[in-house]
Order: sequence, then structure tokens, then C-alpha cells
Amino acid sequence: MSNRNSLRTLAALVAVASLTLAGCGGARGGDSAGGSADGEETFTLKFSHVTTDTTPKGAAALWFEEELEKRTDGRIDVEVYSNSSLYGDKDEMQAIQQNSVQMLAPASAKFTTVAPALQVLDLPFLFDGPEDIPTVAAPDTEVGKAIFANPDLEAKKMKVLGLWDSGMKQIHSNNLTEKPEDMKGKKYRIQPSDVLKSQIEAWGGHAEAIAFAEVYSALQQGVIDGGENTYSNIESQKMHTVQSNIAESNHGYIGYILVVNTDFFDSLPTDLQDTLVEVAEEASTYNRDNVTSINDASKKAIEEEGSTEINVWTDEQRQAFKDVVVPSLYEEYRELIGSEIIDELLANQG
Ligand code: SIN
Repeated sequence: MSNRNSLRTLAALVAVASLTLAGCGGARGGDSAGGSADGEETFTLKFSHVTTDTTPKGAAALWFEEELEKRTDGRIDVEVYSNSSLYGDKDEMQAIQQNSVQMLAPASAKFTTVAPALQVLDLPFLFDGPEDIPTVAAPDTEVGKAIFANPDLEAKKMKVLGLWDSGMKQIHSNNLTEKPEDMKGKKYRIQPSDVLKSQIEAWGGHAEAIAFAEVYSALQQGVIDGGENTYSNIESQKMHTVQSNIAESNHGYIGYILVVNTDFFDSLPTDLQDTLVEVAEEASTYNRDNVTSINDASKKAIEEEGSTEINVWTDEQRQAFKDVVVPSLYEEYRELIGSEIIDELLANQG
């Protein structure tokens, strides 16, 4: 082998080794990034998510990054990867279980295969509006316990650090949606949740689970007719540019379960664990304080673009959709979600 060839081979081996180390997450299961100037061990925390930086989740993730780095004097280096740039819907759950990424904030529906009871948050008409979310999902309620003390998540190496909001979902499509019959025979994109599939089918539509990053092109190519999402997700992914109508239905909720890999968390010194938990809690407050204004701004941007008509459901229209799925869908998922939770929710429905 010539010198030049050996150098090339050496360079290739070094590149492969660094890629492998990066993929495995480095020392202690998470990324131990080395030492700080005063000799203390430093850690790298990769936080991956699928929405843009401008959404309620994206903005809270950036706030979390800045605050945690500041309060730990850089001993935890946070790397935020937004908009499915590191992992997307299809591979993020595996990545966190392998500690290739240390934090995620997926919507509850994305946990369907690993923690099916979290589909409780996908039940339609769970909340009348975003102001009800903190009460219905408080940690001491049955819903809250299903989120914050979920044994399936613990078994999959995920520690819950918070519940973040994307807000209330609206129905987007290329037709006016005022009554369930308007959905008949049309195909709607859903997140991968059995509850959401049942909901769309109960209203007469066909449901197709598609990864978030692929929704815009599926709409553009006519693979699907519509979907359901929050204003900020619709606008930031430009879904409205290929949809003529939005029904402001507020029929469902998108909530995020903020999770950290337990091997990474356990590898941190206790002072860093405490700071991480504290900053995550404050980031949850930051998220909730900003969710309504971000969704309102997205709605305004859609209105100003002028190509999508927004129809706000009347109380009667909302009730007609609700009557189809409450309580029947709640009963259908009683066993899977848990009888006590369903009882509590139905009691709250009044
Ligand atoms: C998200 O808000 O994280 C994505 C929700 C979706 O898949 O529609």
C-alpha cells in the first residue's frame, strides 16, 4: 500500500470510528462530552423532535436548551434537532430506547406501540379548550397518573419530565366540513393511534397513518384529502397551502410527553439531575404560556395568506360530531386505557 493510500485508509477508519461513536452516544450510554475547564465531566444531551423551531414545542425546546446550558455552566451541552432533522416519527422511539438520542417530546399518539394507554390524550372532546388541559391532565388525576407514572415508559427506559401542548386540533381538507357526512369516503391523515383511526372512521372517513414530515407531500400529491392538526403545525408545515378549508373544530388535543432516556439520566451527577428536572418543569410552563399565542399567530398568518377558508364550528355542529364518538369511543377503549380513567373522563363530560 502506498503512503497516500495508507493515509486515506487511516482517514476513512477515523471517520467511521467517529460516526460509530456519535451513533452510539458515547460514554455511559449518553454522550459524555469530556471535561470542562475546571475538570468537571460534561455531558451532551441530544433533543430531537419533528416540528419547526417556531411551534410551541420548537420554541420550548430552544428555551430548555438555553436555560439548561446556562444553569449547568455548560456541563450539559444540549443539541436540539428540530423538524425531523435527526430522527422522525419512524425511528425516534427506537433511538431513545438505544440512547442514540437522550430527549424527545413526541405527541401521545406516537407512543401507541410502546405505551398504549397514552392514547387517552387522543380521545376526542377530552377538553373543551386549552384552558382545561392543566386541570384534566394534572399529575394527581387519573389521566395525569397515566402520563406521569406510566409503567410501560419506565420499562422502555423513558423517564417522563413533563406534558407539553401543541394545542387543539382543527380539521383541514379541500371541502367544507360542517357535519360528519362531509367526511364520508374521504381519506384523512392521522398519527399512528388506534383511537384516532376509530374517531375518523366513526365520522365516516378513511384514516391513514402517515409520518408528520410526509404530510405536506401526501396532501400535495392527493394521497390523502385532509387531516387534523393544530394551527401551528398546519401553518409551519405549509399544509394550508394545499388545502382550501379548515374547520375550526377544536375536537381534539395534541399533547407531548417530554421524556429522557433513563441510562443517560442515571449517569448524571445528582446536582445535574436536579437541574435537568427543574428546567424541564419550567420549560413546560414556558410551553403552556406560549401555546395559545403561537397558534393564534399561525391562524392569523393562514387568514392573511387568503387561500384557505376557515369555518368556526357552531356549538350545534360540534355537538353533532361529539354525539357520534362520546361516549361510544370512550367505551371502546375502556379496557386499553383503563376503566378508572374512562370513568373520570366521562364524569367530567357532564
Ligand atoms: C407534532 O406536533 O409533534 C407532530 C404531530 C403530528 O404528527 O401531527
